[in-house]
Amino acid sequence: MLNIAIDGPAGAGKSTIAKTVARELGCIYVDTGAMYRAIGLFAVENGIPTKDAAALAPRLTEAKVAIEYREDGQHILLNGRDVSAEIRTPEMGMAASDVSAMPEVRAYLLDLQRDMAATHNVVMDGRDIGTVILPNANVKIFLTASAEERARRRHAEHVAKGENVSYNKILDDIVQRDSQDTSRASAPLKQAEDAVLVDSTGLTVAQVADAILKLVNERL
Ligand code: DC
Repeated sequence: MLNIAIDGPAGAGKSTIAKTVARELGCIYVDTGAMYRAIGLFAVENGIPTKDAAALAPRLTEAKVAIEYREDGQHILLNGRDVSAEIRTPEMGMAASDVSAMPEVRAYLLDLQRDMAATHNVVMDGRDIGTVILPNANVKIFLTASAEERARRRHAEHVAKGENVSYNKILDDIVQRDSQDTSRASAPLKQAEDAVLVDSTGLTVAQVADAILKLVNERL
């Protein structure tokens, strides 16, 4: 199977780039952040504090997370309910970051992620794909951009959806989420030793996707 790992901080453009690269290569795109967001949503909906591992861990088996592929791409299901749209808020991003620091949550989602990669050609994005989930991925990319550029992009996405979220709030969330994701003990965000660093600041989606496709072609 062809496995491409794309890791990096929040808002680096991972999902847009990963989708483009997956389409070009005929792979499926697996958004692992969406799985953590679904667990974050489960906690919030059940009144479980998102930093309370002792309360959340024993309830995890009640949160069945599944991925489905339709014409318009990946859908994430929580106990059979399509939560793809609801998980796309800054609050769910923070809830996901909170629950993702728990080793129990990471272990719970690991099989689903590895199974996808074992049975399909995938472009998988996340924080620990190259370091933990797919250490033997064919190509590993660490995609980054300045915090301000990442906040600008996220802000533009919310504005395009007609949502009123302030740029400063998004920048604050991104900085806080990065620091939480980088400093946690369990599978922190970090570049794998054999990953190629791509800084997308000032580059277009097409430029970044082309650079990654070139790397993939060189390796295969
Ligand atoms: O990529 P995203 O913004 O949808 O991810 C939401 C949070 O989930 C992120 O702040 C950290 C966590 N996450 C993780 O710990 N490991 C992954 N492979 C993907 C996401």
